[in-house]
Parts: sequence; C-alpha cells; structure tokens
Amino acid sequence: MVMVMRAPAGRMVGRDEELGRLLTLLDDAGAGRAVAALVSGDAGVGKSRLVSEVTRLADGRGFTVLSGQCAELGDSVPYLPLADALRGAAQSTGVRDALSSRPALGRLLPEGGEGPTIDSDRSGLARQQMFGGVLGLLAELAAAAPVLLVLEDLHWADGSTRDLVTFLSRMLHRERVALIGTYRTDDLHRRHPLRPVVAELQRLPGVISVDLAPLGPSALAEHLMAVAAPVRIDAAELNDIVTRAEGNAYYAEELLAASLSGDLADHGTLPAGLAALLLSRVEQLSDATQQVLRAAAVAGSRADDELVRAASGLQAAEYEGAVREAVTHQLLVPYGTEGYVFRHALLREAVYADLLPGERTRLHATMCSLLSDEQRLALPGTAAELAQHCLASHDIPGAFAASVRAGEEAEQLGAPAEAHRHYDQALALWERVAEPEKTAGLARGKLGLLSATNSADSGDTEHAVHLLRRLRHLLTTQAGQAAGGQDANLVSRIGERLAFYLMLMDDNKAIAEAVEVARATVDATPAEPPTWQHARAIATYAYALLAEDSYGAAREWAERGLTVARAAGAPWVQADALVTMGFLRNREGRNDEAIELLTAAHTQAREAKVLGVELRAAYHLARAHLERGDLSIGAAVAHEGTKRANQTGLNLAPYGLDVQHLHFQCHFADGTWDHAQEIADGFPIRVTSAPEAYLSSMALFIDVARGLPAVAERRAWIEPFWSVRGFDAFIARGLLAEDALWRGDTDQALAEAAIAIELSHEPPWGYYPSTIRPAAVALSARADRAVQARATGDDDTASAELAAAGELRQIAREGAAYAKRPKFILGPEGHGWLARAEAEYCRASGDNDPQAWQAVLDAFGPAYTYETARTQWRLAEALAQAGRRDEAAEQWRRAAHTADKLGARPLRRALDDLARRARIGAAQEHGDGEVLAALTSREREVLRLIAAGRSNREIASVLFIAPKTASVHVSNILGKLGAASRTEAAAIAYREGLTSQPSAR
Ligand SMILES: Nc1ncnc2c1ncn2[C@@H]1O[C@H](COP(=O)(O)OP(=O)(O)O)[C@@H](O)[C@H]1O
Ligand SMILES: [Mg+2]
Repeated sequence: MVMVMRAPAGRMVGRDEELGRLLTLLDDAGAGRAVAALVSGDAGVGKSRLVSEVTRLADGRGFTVLSGQCAELGDSVPYLPLADALRGAAQSTGVRDALSSRPALGRLLPEGGEGPTIDSDRSGLARQQMFGGVLGLLAELAAAAPVLLVLEDLHWADGSTRDLVTFLSRMLHRERVALIGTYRTDDLHRRHPLRPVVAELQRLPGVISVDLAPLGPSALAEHLMAVAAPVRIDAAELNDIVTRAEGNAYYAEELLAASLSGDLADHGTLPAGLAALLLSRVEQLSDATQQVLRAAAVAGSRADDELVRAASGLQAAEYEGAVREAVTHQLLVPYGTEGYVFRHALLREAVYADLLPGERTRLHATMCSLLSDEQRLALPGTAAELAQHCLASHDIPGAFAASVRAGEEAEQLGAPAEAHRHYDQALALWERVAEPEKTAGLARGKLGLLSATNSADSGDTEHAVHLLRRLRHLLTTQAGQAAGGQDANLVSRIGERLAFYLMLMDDNKAIAEAVEVARATVDATPAEPPTWQHARAIATYAYALLAEDSYGAAREWAERGLTVARAAGAPWVQADALVTMGFLRNREGRNDEAIELLTAAHTQAREAKVLGVELRAAYHLARAHLERGDLSIGAAVAHEGTKRANQTGLNLAPYGLDVQHLHFQCHFADGTWDHAQEIADGFPIRVTSAPEAYLSSMALFIDVARGLPAVAERRAWIEPFWSVRGFDAFIARGLLAEDALWRGDTDQALAEAAIAIELSHEPPWGYYPSTIRPAAVALSARADRAVQARATGDDDTASAELAAAGELRQIAREGAAYAKRPKFILGPEGHGWLARAEAEYCRASGDNDPQAWQAVLDAFGPAYTYETARTQWRLAEALAQAGRRDEAAEQWRRAAHTADKLGARPLRRALDDLARRARIGAAQEHGDGEVLAALTSREREVLRLIAAGRSNREIASVLFIAPKTASVHVSNILGKLGAASRTEAAAIAYREGLTSQPSAR
C-alpha cells in the first residue's frame, strides 16, 4: 500500500467567495436566524477542507461546534453522523448536561443509555423522541452560545439521518443554530436517495447551496507548492500535475506525492492508490458498461459515439443501455451531440492503464481501421489520432504516414508545437519503414528541416539549433556524392536556418558559431543561377556580422544580398536584407534612416506574405519607434504584428514573442494602462517554457507598478527559468527590486538590483545601457537609507550609503557610455533613467535638488506618463524641502492625478505619505472598495469584531490572542484605515461591505 502523503493544515487556497458565504451564515446564526447550507462537490475537491476552515472560525467566535461524519457503507447504521457529532462534543460539560436530560439521545453514545434500543427505526415513537431530542438539545445549547452542526458526506447517510436533516431545516427558526451538510456530487446518481432530499431542502428559505467548482489552476499550484515545501517542484512537472488534476485537490496531492517519491515515472502512470480508488467506481458497473468504458478510454479524451460503439463490439441496444448506465453513474458525461468525455480525465487514465496488454493492442487496431477512411481523415485532428492508435497497435508504416500527414495539418492550422512533434515522430520511425521517402513524399533532410523550423516557431529555438546541427552534420558528410542542385539548396537552407537561430540565442559563443556557419553556407550555395536560397544565405550572413558588431562588412553583405534577391525574383528575401540594413542604421545611431528602411522592409514583407520576415521587420520597426519615443506608431506596428503572430500560432516564435512585449511596452509607456494590463494579463503566469517566462517577466512592469498580488506568483513560476535566459532574469530582477522598494524593503531591493546589474555587464567591455535602470533603483534604495540615517543622526551610516551610491552612479554612467558600441545613441528612456540616477545621488548626499529632478522630467519628456508622475513625486518632495510649497503642491497634484488615472497604487501610497509628512496635497479619499485591501485577513477578522461592538478583551478571547495583541491589531487597523476611532472603523467596515449589516446587540 502506498503511503499517502497528507497535506499539513496549510493555507486554504482559492475559496474566498465560498468561505465568505458560509461566514455570513454564521453571522446569521449568531444573530438568531437559524440557517442551513449544503456544500456539494466532487470527491476530493475540498468540501471538508472548506468546512474545517468554517468550524475553526466558528470555534473562534465562541460557537459550540458539533461535527459528525457519515461513513461509506454506514447507511445501515441509523444516526451514525449524529452519534459521531455527539461523541465528539461530549467532553464539553454543556453538551453532556444537555444529553443527560435526553435519554433518547444518550443511547447514541458508546456508554449507551436506558430505554429501548434503536437498531430498528420502525417505531414512529422512537423516531419522534429522537427528532424531538435533537431539536431540544440544539435549542438548549443555542441558548448558551450559537451552535454549528456539521454533517459530512451525507451521500452516505442513512434514511433516518436524511429525514432528521429535513426535519431540523424545517423546525429551526429563531435558534442560534447553523447547520452545514456536505455531499458528493459525483456519487449522486439519478436515483440516489439523497437527491429528493436535496431538492426539497433547496426550496426552504433558510437553506443555501454552496457548490464547489474545481479549484483554479493558480490556487491548485499554490497549494501544491505549499504541500511540497521545502522541496521545490519543477515548473513543468507542477504544470503537468495541475493540468492532470483538473482542479481536484485530492488527485493533485496524490499525483504530487507519487511524483516526489519517484513513482510517477511518466505521464501514463497513476499512483496505485489513486488508480484503485478511481477503478472502484467502475467495478460496480455491469460488464457491458465496463466494456464501453474500456473502448472509450482507448478512443481518447473525447470519445466519438459511433467509434466507441464499434470498438466496444456491443449490439446497439446493449450498447445504449451500457452508455446510459455510465452516464447515470457520472463516469461519462455527454459531450456535444455525438460524443462523451470521462467525468475526470484521470478516470480515463485509470481505465486505460487497467487494460490487459492484448486487449489494448486489439482495441487500438480496431480504432485504426475505423479511422483510416478518407472521409474521417479529412476532419482535422484525425490524422494525429490515427498516428497514435497505429503506434499503440504496432503498425509502424501506418504511424509514419499518419504522423507526416498530421504534421502538415498542424502546420497549416498554425500549431507549430504539434507540427514539430508529429514530424519528429515520423523522423524517429524513418528507418523502420520500407520506402520512407516515397511514403512521406519528402526527403529526410526536408522532414528534418520542417521539424526544426516548427520547433523554433513554437518557441524552442534551442531545440531547433540542436536538430539542425545534427542534420547539417549528417548531410554534409553525405553531400560529396549526392550534390544535385536540389540537395545543395536544401543543405543551404539548413545551414542558413541554423545560423539564424544561433544568433537569436544571444550569447557570444553562439554568435561566433552563427557567423562561421553562415559564411560556410554562403560559400557552399551555388551562385548561378541566382536563387532565393543563395540570397537568403547572404542576407543571414550579413545579419550575423551585425550581431558580431562588424558593421562595415555587414553593410556590404546586406547590399549584396539585396542584389541577389532582386536577381532571383525573391521580394521577401529583399525585405529580409532591408531589415538588416535598417537595423544597422539603428545601431549606428541613424534612427531616422533606420525607420525609413524598416518601414519599407515591413511593407515589402507584408506584400510578399512571408510571415517570419514580416514579424522580424515589425519587431525592429516597432522598437526603433519606441526608442525614439514615438509610442503610438510603435504600438500600432507591434499591435498588428501581435495579431498576425496570434492568428498563425507564432506567438511564442522568435519575433512573434517580441512584438507582443513591445506592444505591451508601448502602452505601458504611453499611459494607456488598462489596455497594457489587458495585454499583460494575456501573458501566462504558470509558465513552463522559456519564452513564456520571458513574457511573464514583461508583465511584471505593470503588476509591480500597480502593486498587484500577481507579482509573487509570477516570480515563483519564472524563477526556474532564470538560469536559462539572462534577459528575462535581468528584467524580472530589476522589477522585483522596484517592488521591494515600494514595500520599503531596501535590503531586498538592493539584492535584486545587484543581480540585474551584474547581468548587464560583459567583460571586457563593461556595462550595457540596460544597467542604468537597476542602478537607479538601487540608488533610490541607498538614498532612502541615507536620508533615514541622517534623520536619526547616524552620520557614519549616511556616509557609507553615500559611498555606495557613488559607486552605483558610476555604474550608471558607464552603462550610458556603452564602451562596446561607441556609436550607440541613448534614447529618451535611457537619458531619463540616467538623470534619475544622478538625482537620486543628490538625494542620498543630503542635497535633494529640485533642479536635478526637473532634469529627469526633461530627459524622459512628457510621453512617458508613469515615469513623469514618479519623477513629479520626487520633485514635489524636493520642492517641499526647499520651502517652495506652492510649486510642490502643484507637482504633487499632477503626480496624484496620473497615479489615480493609471491605477498606480504604490505610487499613490507614496504620494499620500508625502502629503502627510509635508502637509501638501490631499491624501486619497478611499471609497472604491480598495480600502480593506490593505488589511491582512487577521485584521479583517478583528475589524469584523470591532464592527460587532466587541471590546479588545472580547476580541482577544474570541481570537485566542493576548489582549495586548488585540490592541495592537486594533491600532494598526485604525492606522491603515485612517480612522480616528473604533466607531469610524466600524462605519468603514459597513460601508466596504465587510459586515453585511450592523449586527444585533
Ligand atoms: N482550498 C484548499 N486549499 C488547500 N488545500 C485544500 C483545499 N481544498 C482541498 N484541499 C486539500 O485537498 C485534499 C482533499 O480535500 P477534502 O476537503 O478532503 O476533499 P472533499 O472533502 O471534497 O472530498 C485535502 O488534503 C485538503 O486539505
Ligand atoms: Mg470530505
């Protein structure tokens, strides 16, 4: 038996709304309105966890909690859950006393009682006594303190318990009693005896239903990370578990436990305990139904009715009965008009894994013959399914042909990741097929090239490089004998793509290899007659030279590429060469010319309808505009590029990825943050690949600036990818430094910034311009510390901070000089951050000079809305310090206006703080429901009690804390709410909806 790892009573995730509804129920009960809630959901979805949270809180509020559990096969024991509940509470004197005066109930306890036993519930009298006894007991207890009665897993309850629940729900009115029952939805088949009871209860006025949907993926991931801690789960693995568990916390925990103990060798295996649990539901069904489930499990995650019937081998009538049974027992769920899905995908896995080997092969073979008909194959996706069934039934040639077809289909549908997988599968089978080239209609080199380009298009450039290196090696060793024109051009394309992808890897060794491969490819490609392959090889060589900073040679080759492309009649290669020429101008600091060339290249690429080139042109063009501060044109170009990338499945491909983040950057910069947020929200949080991590890092710009909770979650997911790519680590670290700074954590701010600074340093050249920003952020942290030290008269610390600030300023200046590229021209953003670094240095030195901050404003220019507001904040502070109050107030007002417009809450808080300290402006009038966001959940709980008119001592006893702690909470709350008194805090609590209404005295 596998040891099942039990979750520690960790934080409950993702159930705020449901918990809120149940807490309202407690409020009502406390106020003397008896109420009941039915909590339903699939097994393992988290009913007990939620209810245990409620009981804990109820306990804290002074409720008498009675909690009983039904047991599987317990429906032959009357009142089992009630007995359980009474036994659990019998230690309490109140409960014991109340029981002792009710002999009918006493009989439920182990020590028994007098009177007739109730093993048969036939006697109406016994039942009457029992029901009356329970009602009386609850009323008596409720007179002393409110009561919460929990009856768990009512789907297993006996008939008497079911009747009792109905009885209580009808009879309780003014008593301070809350009743919570839970039951499993997936066990509640159509004829289940609890069904009519639920239906009846739901019609009663005091009864609410809380149906627990599957947990959201982020909540589930958070839970799993907490369960696994301190072990870190690999992001891909975590994602896999979250996906497979489909929101079921129990399944997820089981999968995690198996994965951590190494039992989860691959996708296809299920932990034994979980498999047994899932299969136990199948085993209760008829043979025919089990046969249908097996066929459906083989058919796939969506089972087509016709296929399943044919594969099950059942007659129509028998088949229909069996499907009906499977649906009634909630194992299959109708999907669309002619198919079924399993209620939970893991159920399918379990049934599939339980098949006998021969049975499995046979069923797959049947599926193959059913699918291999042209009419079916014409449906998209069928070829991919067929390939799988062929493989599983050991039909290699069939699998090979179907894989090639599936690859082509996926490519046409803009699904490069899938296309790559199918082509790769075909390549793996190449040698095991008699006439592969004829069957596939492709040469092996071509198939390899397709597999690699699709891999790159799906965002995995590194894998593409790996594949192309191997392919190139293979072909060049054979090329000598078979160098027909066809082959030479294929070899050329392979070399050209390899060089291109190598450049994108953005490290010096890869770039050197790119130059070498590109050059060799140019030399090996026949020059006559002119071909697009030759032109492209030249254009790519020019690009590689540029990446290597050989500007003169790059220009020469780019022009030559243009000429050959023209001669070969290949306008899209012309466009490609033009992009390189435009990028070259940009690098040389001639941005106007660059934009002209790039615009021409972009138009030409669009007309030629070659997507990869179009995206590359769009990227460079948008970036050139962004660098120059032309945000709206940049945004428009990037927007269109994004649309094209998304339409064609190239959203993670090189340049397809980059136009998306540029699109976001432009809107972030120009202050249309709601739009920027929309774009950023589309960047995945639970990332499992480097390109996704890259996008997620970009989203931090706005998440940090708005102070959103997503920051922590994004960080957790992107961290595993920091070693893979330097650039997103650089971006993320810099922004996390800003986040820490907003939270006042200068230690962390400095630590994060130091790493970002380190990442933009390249020996022997020194710092890149990208260093300026993290250096300025670190300077800001140093300045904060120096100011603080000076305020407390700690001059040693102040001068140490200033010395550190001096070093940072030097780094920023070095970055701006960019020794590696002397012709580089710093754009307005670079100048803005550099000026900020200088101004922060002044602040650190104790001479917070308004002029320095004015210089920052001038450097950024008005286009950078957020940076302008952030600068105005500091400018206002400097002006206030200089005694120029009116000017300070004016800057403050502008900054506050922008901060509110953008929803830049951390900035707004900083402004409020400045307003209080300097007595300028007006601290924000909260009123938008955000007020309570500043409170921790504990503080909210305390606030609820304040609103209920409780004293500190009472609060302390309700929450099991020391009165001293309670008073600290209360003063913190008053501070955070800006409330002058408890009454005012209570009023805010009502206004913000924390408490639905003033509670009864
Ligand atoms: N919202 C949640 N937050 C944290 N853990 C949860 C949550 N929901 C369920 N779990 C955990 O998942 C497992 C199954 O949940 P449980 O409440 O027993 O399911 P149910 O009662 O619906 O069958 C338990 O280990 C539980 O602690
Ligand atoms: Mg449970």
